Parts: sequence; C-alpha cells; structure tokens
Amino acid sequence: MPVPTTHRIAIVPHPGGPEAIEIVARPLPELLPDEILIRTAACGVNRPDTFERMGFYPPPPGAPDGLGLEAAGIVEAAGSSVDRFKPGDPVCALVTGGGYSDYVIAKVGSTLPAPDGMDLAAAAGLPETVFTVWANVFEAGQLKAGEILLVHGGAGGIGTTAIQMGRAAGARVFATASSADKCAICERLGAERAINYREEDFAAILRDAGGADVILDMVGGPYLQKNIDCAAFRGRIIQIAFLQGSRIEADFMRLMLKQLTLTGSTLRARPDAEKAALASAIESNVWPWISRGQISPEIFRTFPLSDAAEAHRLMESGGHYGKILLTP
Ligand SMILES: NC(=O)c1ccc[n+]([C@@H]2O[C@H](COP(=O)([O-])OP(=O)(O)OC[C@H]3O[C@@H](n4cnc5c(N)ncnc54)[C@H](OP(=O)(O)O)[C@@H]3O)[C@@H](O)[C@H]2O)c1
Repeated sequence: MPVPTTHRIAIVPHPGGPEAIEIVARPLPELLPDEILIRTAACGVNRPDTFERMGFYPPPPGAPDGLGLEAAGIVEAAGSSVDRFKPGDPVCALVTGGGYSDYVIAKVGSTLPAPDGMDLAAAAGLPETVFTVWANVFEAGQLKAGEILLVHGGAGGIGTTAIQMGRAAGARVFATASSADKCAICERLGAERAINYREEDFAAILRDAGGADVILDMVGGPYLQKNIDCAAFRGRIIQIAFLQGSRIEADFMRLMLKQLTLTGSTLRARPDAEKAALASAIESNVWPWISRGQISPEIFRTFPLSDAAEAHRLMESGGHYGKILLTP
C-alpha cells in the first residue's frame, strides 16, 4: 500500500471535555535516524490522555501535540540508524504523543516486537501499562515471588496489567475495586482476593493477611494513611497518580517504625535512554510471560479513531474495565 502524504491525528486545540478532541489531517511526520514510522493497527486510550485533554497534563518538551501514548501496527519505514526493525514487522510502542493517528512515530528504543500469536490491535493495549507496572512494581518496588502485592484501581488499565504481572512473578495479589463485577474481573485475572472498597476496609484485610510488601496506588488522598497502616515491615508504597488528591495530612510514624519506602514516578517525561532500558528489561522478563499466556491485555471496547471523544466519555464514566482501544 503506498504511504499517503497526510494522515489523521487527534489533537486538542483548546482544553475541555471530550468534544474538545478534533481529528485533523496532517502531513506525515518526518523520521529521525533513531525512529520508526508505524502504520497504526490500534492505539490505547489511557487515563492520562483525559487529563491532557483537560489541560492538566501538558506534553513534555519536544513531544508531539497529538493525544495517545501507545500504539501497535506495522513498520512502514525505519530511520537510517535503525537495524532492529524493518518495514513489514509487527510492533508495539510506547510513544510520547500522537498515538491516536493513522501513522505514528516511535523511538526504536521504546518499540518492541508485537508478541507472537497476539492480535496486533490488542498489542496496542500493552506498552503504557506494562512499562508503568514494570518501572514501578518491579524496578522501584522490587516485588519478589511470595510477597504480597496490593493493586489499587485493580479493574482499570494499569490495574488489570499489574494483577497479571504480579501473579506471573509468583506474588500473592490483592486488589481493590468499586463493585462486585470489577472485583470478579480482578479475581479472574489472578488476584487472590479482590476487595470492594465501598463495602470492605482494605487496610484491615491486608493487615490480617500479614501486610502488603508492595502497594501500587493511583488513588492517593485518604488511601495514603491506610497504605502506611497496612504495609508490611519494609514495605514499598508506589504512587503513580493521585485521583483523590495529592494534598494529604497523614501520620508518618509507622513509615519510620516499619522502615517503609514511599516513592512514585511518571513515565512519559523519562529520557529515551531510560525508556529503552525499560523496554529491554520488559522484553526479557515480561514477553516470556505473554508468550506463555500468563498475561494478555484485557480489552473492554474498541472504537474507531473518529469516535475518540466517545472513548474518553466511556473512560470518564468509570464503566469500563481493562483497556479501551481506538482503531483507524
Ligand atoms: N505515573 C505513571 O507513570 C502513570 C502511567 C500511566 C498511568 N498513570 C495513572 O494511573 C491511573 C490509572 O490509569 P488507567 O489508564 O489504568 O485508568 P483507568 O483504566 O481509568 O483505571 C483507573 C482505576 O482507578 C479506579 N479509581 C479509584 N478512584 C478513582 C477516581 N477518583 N477517579 C477515577 N478512577 C478511580 C477506578 O476503578 P474503580 O471504579 O474500581 O474505583 C479505575 O478502574 C491514572 O490516574 C493515570 O494517570 C500513571
């Protein structure tokens, strides 16, 4: 198929609600030597995209202005210094923006071969969550087999991936979610115990289980105190967002007495070299789990790219679990 000179991309000229997303025609981006051009089979919708759309999460310097942090597709062209991939290869990639498009540019270091046997569109649901969980639960959190991992937001995109990766690593996984249905999904994916936080006290349940060695938290607010209270001795609490607020009053005495680590990170603004190191660790450690069928993206719904606003409405309604995708 000949490469067109223009393609469709989703941008947000003025921050606002889902209706602020515009699909426009743009010239195809120019390739740098260390980049590849991917003909998009699908891209993932992530909660940070909704924050970017509202103007709360501006792209880092140098990032494209289009929405979308991950994509999968076929390599259309490779930059002059790329020898790992060639046109026709199926790949998935973490990108700094512009994923909601017909063609997307990715750094070769943030690109991975699409897993064998996986539907190529479904592979678009992997990069953002797998990179985030690897960086936070495994690198910062140092999760080990036999330890207890507590995953908040267990039924979301990050949560469904964290449960599966924790389980694949031999950890005992506990998860929190807002309904019986979402709890059932968490348990189907490998959580030993899913906790409906509207009805049960997760901190009490984790204390009874001996304490959480690693806690992946995107909720913040009142969860911080409870996380400190239910962490195990030398537990690691990792913040990846603060959906219920980042200005928190808490009693940190137990942090000291239990020798806890409280940390957090973001993915998008990391230097390319760091993302490449993460990609390499993921290919060595997580891709084998995928090929053994221990992890697969939980795809809730796929929308056409032209319905990106609908996809954002669904995500903001909280009615989804797992991943939402867009296809050109
Ligand atoms: N730091 C990083 O590197 C990084 C990278 C990627 C994503 N993130 C962050 O991770 C979070 C999850 O992203 P995602 O793409 O997995 O989103 P998602 O699919 O919407 O999942 C978020 C989950 O959080 C739960 N939740 C709890 N309190 C919430 C609240 N006040 N508002 C909305 N949801 C709430 C929801 O489940 P219940 O209905 O069960 O409560 C939902 O399943 C986002 O905040 C995102 O910004 C951080």
